Amino acid sequence: MTRTLLIDTDGGSDDVVALIMALRSPAVRVAAITVIAGNVPVEQATRNVLYTVELSGAQTPVYAGAAKPLLRELMTAEWFHGKDGLGDHGYAPASRKTESAHAVDAIIQTVQVNPGIEIVTLGPLTNLALAIGKEPRIIKAIGRCIVMGGAPCCEGNVTPAAEFNIWVDPEAAKMVFRAGLAIEMVGWHLCRGTAALNTQDIERILALGTPLAEFVVRCNSVAAEAYRLQTGEVGISLPDPISMAIALRPELCTSSSMHYVDVETASDLTRGMSVVDRLNVAGDERNRDLWAWALKTKVKTHICWTIDVAGWKTALYAALA
Ligand code: BDR
Ligand code: CA
Repeated sequence: MTRTLLIDTDGGSDDVVALIMALRSPAVRVAAITVIAGNVPVEQATRNVLYTVELSGAQTPVYAGAAKPLLRELMTAEWFHGKDGLGDHGYAPASRKTESAHAVDAIIQTVQVNPGIEIVTLGPLTNLALAIGKEPRIIKAIGRCIVMGGAPCCEGNVTPAAEFNIWVDPEAAKMVFRAGLAIEMVGWHLCRGTAALNTQDIERILALGTPLAEFVVRCNSVAAEAYRLQTGEVGISLPDPISMAIALRPELCTSSSMHYVDVETASDLTRGMSVVDRLNVAGDERNRDLWAWALKTKVKTHICWTIDVAGWKTALYAALA
């Protein structure tokens, strides 16, 4: 049976690759794409999503969402993705338009008519937090929630402690991680090193000779350079497509475990840190008060620790052929 997906995205150069993978997959139907401010302002993110849907030949409805985090000013990542989020190659505006409904209402409505739906979040969690705040009954109707976000080994890409999607809107992330959704966390640690596309991988994609293959490499030109400057690693790091590959084929996550997860919102130094109770010490006397919510609700998150690197790249090539 075809599975149904809803994708929430902030329209960056790796997001659009993930969208292509889902839109081209015969295993899923993408019921809606909702857009959130993150890598770029929500208007630009929406333009990028519409462009990608059109390039993929899909008819998926697109809904624009929140323009800023729940409580904070928006901090974008043009330095990583380019001013337009897609490497500044001047892609023409799509002829498609967004639907009139707000993304938050679209999430609620799409979940209500598709119980068991799988949600994949590729940006800050603002839209999803607003949706579950407005209509908490959707929590039980969401089958899986794959979250690209977090740095469960505590090596962030924005600060030493935090990964971008969680750091941008930590209050939203805290709400979502505590809500009782079946969250599968795909952290930034899975998207580096051999998991990034190396020179041979990029050549292999370009050799496919399709417009989608060319787009995927070209729109990540600024991101590749930013990644090299940040980490010293050469290649294209693709957090959102890796998350999508796991959403589409859960067996690509090769080791995982369930833990309480909370998000730091009070500190400046560790803002947006995804704090994972990996050794299950939340119940110890010295921790009990801080983790009281978790000990009471028993809400745990499925953390993916390792992935099948060859398998994820094969899934990407298949989507672009
Ligand atoms: C995440 O942040 C954004 O820059 C990417 O699109 C990805 O969702 C990686 O930290
Ligand atoms: Ca993203």
